[in-house]
Amino acid sequence: MPDAYILGIESSCDETAAAVVRSGEKIVSNVVFSQIAAHQPYGGVVPELASREHLKAIVPVVRKALADAGQTYRSIDALAVTQGPGLAGALMVGISYAKALAFALDKPLIAVNHLEGHIHSVLLEERQKGGFASSNTLSSDRASSNHDLHFPVLALVVSGGHTHLYLAEQQGETWFYRNIGHTRDDAAGEAFDKVAKLLGLGYPGGPIIDKLSQHGDPAAVKFSLSQLKHPDRRTAPDHYGPRFDFSYSGIKTAVLRHVEVHHRQASIEARRKALAGIAQPELEDYLRECDQQTLDLVASFQRAMVGDLVGKTLAAARACGVRTLFVTGGVAANNELRVRFEKDAAQEGLQVYFPSRPLATDNAAMIAAAAYPKFLAKDFAAMDFSAEAGMRLK
Ligand code: KG4
Ligand code: ZN
Repeated sequence: MPDAYILGIESSCDETAAAVVRSGEKIVSNVVFSQIAAHQPYGGVVPELASREHLKAIVPVVRKALADAGQTYRSIDALAVTQGPGLAGALMVGISYAKALAFALDKPLIAVNHLEGHIHSVLLEERQKGGFASSNTLSSDRASSNHDLHFPVLALVVSGGHTHLYLAEQQGETWFYRNIGHTRDDAAGEAFDKVAKLLGLGYPGGPIIDKLSQHGDPAAVKFSLSQLKHPDRRTAPDHYGPRFDFSYSGIKTAVLRHVEVHHRQASIEARRKALAGIAQPELEDYLRECDQQTLDLVASFQRAMVGDLVGKTLAAARACGVRTLFVTGGVAANNELRVRFEKDAAQEGLQVYFPSRPLATDNAAMIAAAAYPKFLAKDFAAMDFSAEAGMRLK
């Protein structure tokens, strides 16, 4: 099979991204334009603003991805675009542009689920390092060289919009997924963002909580996370077997209650104002504005989140007899989460793989990589497909 160069386009949330990936195993270019600065004054992503920012950025971002790759519109073999889940208006910008390009260039277009993209970011990077067999290896070779990868793999996709556990396996060229856990309310990244916001630490919350936690006592405040024993009434009947669901709105409320009980509101307001007055606050600025009590609270929150994510994922791995874990999505960039996963998984004899930090958060290389098996299977999108804000992964 000759090499295939796929141009991936991603616009599901607040990153406009384009990348060229060769045969699902080599990143040739990877351009990410973050809209964080546009959304920061509002303390979160504003959907309409996101659509407008995508519209401004999409053409230059795609042009740069092609130029960086030494490719042209004509030389690429196919296009891939995120269909969902995500913000409908934001998705439509990427999809409309990808459709127009595919139509004008007469190239195949592949629609990709964003969550599948996050899972493939792990596969892409491992292949790039020479691990796992590439998709176009013959099945017999793949079986012998796939020594690290035991199917099914258990993938934790944990980001600002999602907290999902999937059993994933490849049969022939096709990947199959079964959801065995999801959040009943807030996603883990959303909890990081909301807690940061209520503590006057700005947006996005995950990266700054990650850094500040290293300066606090994680045992200072006890947070208990809900163990969900009852089935989710909203779960579709096609979901069978044991479930490993998450719930993070309670811990956010517990942090809020802690702030109220300890009368922290005035100092939070002062911090919010002080940080808002700094164009691009550095870690030292945050540290100057945080007393030890706040650092302890942040570290305790992170410790509880990490304990819950790792504990539930390992329980699912045990119950399903899984030997390989993937941990991916924006929250997979978290230092404590990585260290804890590595330590606890090793104790149980499990292999755990993370994407590098730039590939953990939203990007288009993962979309182009996830598209490659579909390219081989000629699983191309019809020109009348649309954005699917609540798209599920199956
Ligand atoms: O995957 P992503 O870029 O976008 C979504 O698909 O949601 O994830 C963004 C989320 C945000 O909630 C952000 O706060 C969180 O990932 N995040 C982190 C870290 N870096 C980003 N959370 C915890 N620790 C981090 N280091
Ligand atoms: Zn994402």
